[in-house]
Amino acid sequence: MAQLLISGGAGFIGSHTCLVLLEAGHHLMVIDNYHNSSPEALRRVANLAGPDAANRLNIVEGDIRNSDDLDRAFSNNKQDIEAVVHFAGLKAVGESVQQPLLYWDVNVVGSCCLLQAMQRHRCRTIVFSSSATLYGYPTQVPIPESAAVQPINPYGHSKAAVEQMLMDLSASEPGWRIARLRYFNPVGAHCSGKIGEDPRGIPNNLFPFVTQVAIGRRQELQVFGNDWPTPDGSGVRDYIHVMDLAEGHQAALDVLLQEDPQLLTLNLGSGTGHSVLDVVKAFEAVSGRSVPYTVQNRRPGDAACTVADPSQAAARLNWSTHRSLLEMCQDAWTWQQNNPKGYSTLD
Ligand SMILES: NC(=O)c1ccc[n+]([C@@H]2O[C@H](COP(=O)([O-])OP(=O)(O)OC[C@H]3O[C@@H](n4cnc5c(N)ncnc54)[C@H](O)[C@@H]3O)[C@@H](O)[C@H]2O)c1
Repeated sequence: MAQLLISGGAGFIGSHTCLVLLEAGHHLMVIDNYHNSSPEALRRVANLAGPDAANRLNIVEGDIRNSDDLDRAFSNNKQDIEAVVHFAGLKAVGESVQQPLLYWDVNVVGSCCLLQAMQRHRCRTIVFSSSATLYGYPTQVPIPESAAVQPINPYGHSKAAVEQMLMDLSASEPGWRIARLRYFNPVGAHCSGKIGEDPRGIPNNLFPFVTQVAIGRRQELQVFGNDWPTPDGSGVRDYIHVMDLAEGHQAALDVLLQEDPQLLTLNLGSGTGHSVLDVVKAFEAVSGRSVPYTVQNRRPGDAACTVADPSQAAARLNWSTHRSLLEMCQDAWTWQQNNPKGYSTLD
């Protein structure tokens, strides 16, 4: 079993991935500054993972842009860190348009600092959280990894820059094992309802918004556009259950640690599209609540339909998604009901 460093491990995807990796027997060191997360998430992960898991989960509260924090995270372990799973970053497209320098600082400078720390500590294996946002307005759906990288906002530019940084690094030094994983739309929660997505303020994404409307925390959902060229006129996305995504990271790590050094670039998605109105209907079915919505104008920067071609991930990782839209809605609803205010109830 490996000693791993997980940046941003307290966040939505990071916490679910920590659980899967602890259950697989790995030792984890998490570095997180809790900018968008709570220490409570990792306490719950340790509880869910079983009696000995707390001994295999260590945490440094720190910033990936700070080399001292990174050196503490790399050094405070019995074994050397064998691989890094790099989630830490900012992810709100709208905020990135308002504050581009912040996004370049945290996402790009932060990743550069982390890679420099990896060089100092002779670790050359990394799984990086990239995004389907890289594809901008897709010209081909389902989208293969060979599609053009043409982001349309600062968040997407920051992900493209880190992907390039990783490619330059792997070309310059032999021995790097790198997976650039392009996530589509991660949603849902662990089926226990103990960990889930806990956005600060008004959610940017559809799922937490829908769950907050159903529980009465927000009045209605805004559906942006009902005149898209899709079967029901609302936007179509490729939703992926966060536990399927977490298992995708485990599969990527297994491949990197077992095979020769390489640079992998893979879409992680289901390959199936669901419209906003499909999600509303599925959510109403599992929750028994109605989700009132109003239709607004299309938002600039949105695409009609974004769906992954996930065949490369299936071939290289022997991994594919298996949880349905109903399970995504059910698990998100269980999480929301058990934690109407997210983690903040206990903090
Ligand atoms: N959730 C999505 O829809 C989505 C889609 C594609 C890609 N991604 C990428 O996946 C990664 C994880 O996303 P998430 O949804 O779990 O987001 P999240 O905000 O829940 O998690 C990110 C974590 O990083 C931490 N963090 C932020 N800045 C930091 C810093 N400077 N130093 C240390 N820790 C820091 C936050 O506190 C948080 O715990 C991000 O890089 C994101 O861009 C997310």
